[in-house]
Amino acid sequence: MAADPRVQDILDRALADIAGARSTSALEQVRVRVLGRAGELTALLRGLGKVPPADRPQVGQEANEAKGHIEAALAARQEALKTEEHRQTLAARHVDLTLPGRAPAPGAMHPIIRVQDEIISIFEGLGFSVAEGPEVESDYYNFAALNFPDDHPARDMQDTFHISADTVLRTHTSPVQIRAMKAQGPPVRIICPGKVFRHDITDATHSPMFHQVEGLAVDRHITMADLKGTLDLFAREMFGPRSRVRFRPSFFPFTEPSAEVDVLCFKCGGEGCRFCKQSGWIEILGSGMVHPNVLRNVGYDPEEVTGWAFGMGVERVAILKYEIDDIRLFFENDMRFLSQFISSSPLPLGREAG
Ligand code: PHE
Repeated sequence: MAADPRVQDILDRALADIAGARSTSALEQVRVRVLGRAGELTALLRGLGKVPPADRPQVGQEANEAKGHIEAALAARQEALKTEEHRQTLAARHVDLTLPGRAPAPGAMHPIIRVQDEIISIFEGLGFSVAEGPEVESDYYNFAALNFPDDHPARDMQDTFHISADTVLRTHTSPVQIRAMKAQGPPVRIICPGKVFRHDITDATHSPMFHQVEGLAVDRHITMADLKGTLDLFAREMFGPRSRVRFRPSFFPFTEPSAEVDVLCFKCGGEGCRFCKQSGWIEILGSGMVHPNVLRNVGYDPEEVTGWAFGMGVERVAILKYEIDDIRLFFENDMRFLSQFISSSPLPLGREAG
């Protein structure tokens, strides 16, 4: 207890206010009021000169002791309030570490691209390399160089989207054959993946945009037997060792002879079902021996070299391999369909053949 009532009063009020301070900023206000430059106790200490000399040492000592008490009380309260404020901040920002995480949705290769890559890698294994060409193509590359005569009805085989009189959206990947052969001399072994466009009415088996992979081999002594052997091997690699292919005579202006190639229907094993329109077979590509006129158009000598080519429908291959019954599924981007292809390998819908 201080003998001086003013010191005692300052001390009592200061300690009471410190105890009552609810925040560090309220506490700071108390400190400034009492110990600040114009604070109550500061003023008292400064005014010691006016205290009668006899009382001065006593009042001075009491005031200094009071200052020490107050500083200690401020520090203790400051510590307590800080801890409490920190606790409140943490509570407000509460993170529940036991909550299950949000799984990131992984992207995945589109089934068409996966099948396309698989086709490419089978042919790469046979020594073919990838060549590409533009989707907007000139009439020359899409038709004329491929031995389609002007106004020939064969042009109507493929309903063409025209950009202008002599510019089209390519109707097949065959123009890449011409570009590749013009760019290099024989021998040529290329595989050309890409989008193609046809003015078809969309239904379960037709889409105005779809994908093809073109194959071309030109060298000395290339025969139709090489084509058959290669496609037979391809079918077994793609669809399993029990898969079979069949060749049917056909016509393309740029091949002679020409053949369409079917694969045994996987759904019914050849017995005939809705999937293969009761035929037991599903067409996957057109092919043939490169027409001598095409070789001449690119500056090759048909007496020196021969070749074969094929154009394969990627959607057809994917539909067969994964038993998908509607081509539109590939382009609707419905996650329920696409997410079936997310796991890397093997494809969940794939059926082990062989
Ligand atoms: N370009 C043909 C088509 O799209 C397929 C084909 C390619 C046929 C190569 C023979 C040789 O129908």
